[in-house]
Amino acid sequence: MSRQVHTAIVELAGVSKSYGEVAALRGAGLVVDRGELLAVVGPSGSGKSTLLNIMGTLDRPTSGTVRIDGHEVARLSDRELSALRARTIGFVFQQFHLAPGVPALDCVAEGLLYGGRSRGERRLLARRALIRVGLGHRLDHEPHQLSGGEKQRVAIARAVAGDPPLLLADEPTGALDSRSGAVVMQLLRDLNRAGTTVVVITHDRDIAASLPREVRVRDGHIEHDADRLGEGVRA
Ligand SMILES: Nc1ncnc2c1ncn2[C@@H]1O[C@H](COP(=O)(O)OP(=O)(O)O)[C@@H](O)[C@H]1O
Ligand SMILES: [Mg+2]
Repeated sequence: MSRQVHTAIVELAGVSKSYGEVAALRGAGLVVDRGELLAVVGPSGSGKSTLLNIMGTLDRPTSGTVRIDGHEVARLSDRELSALRARTIGFVFQQFHLAPGVPALDCVAEGLLYGGRSRGERRLLARRALIRVGLGHRLDHEPHQLSGGEKQRVAIARAVAGDPPLLLADEPTGALDSRSGAVVMQLLRDLNRAGTTVVVITHDRDIAASLPREVRVRDGHIEHDADRLGEGVRA
């Protein structure tokens, strides 16, 4: 019997999600291979965040299948799912989600609490991640002492400190001015070049057009999916 090799890190098939009467996703299919950098773009209310939450295993679909790193999410217990999420996925959100009054180093180290590492190891990895995002000089700064762009870089450091293979970013530049937004996008590109698979949700057409693959969502389904290497529509 041959063991199947999974090059895909994310595989969604026929994924629907309803909230009461509202159909947020209707039969969405999406495969993301390891090493990709892609944009998920679409108008407000089209289902982008729902899609990201399901890819991130934060939410379960009403129907359809979700595989993350080869594991079918529906077959996992809550505990197994938390473990898969902790080792596989980093999250970045538009509004940073940094706790007030917590210095950057502690904030990033706390993000590693569920990975079974010692306190010293967590602090070392946190320091490294902050240096990686260019904030080695802001380790003791609390959120109110940081600019919007710096806050998002702390959030990115927290998301990647444990070196997850997959980074999911929901409108990461949505609350930033264009200059800070460009710095954050460059950082995401650098992380991708170093090996992380990166999915960026955006309603910014320019950002979407600047990435190697663009997935367009409309009314809860994938309307268009193409990369820029001449392979055309993928789904
Ligand atoms: N928790 C929820 N409860 C009820 N409706 C929701 C919930 N989350 C999303 N929706 C609805 O699902 C649709 C898609 O939302 P969302 O995925 O947030 O879209 P987007 O991120 O593209 O703006 C919208 O109509 C939204 O109002
Ligand atoms: Mg959204």
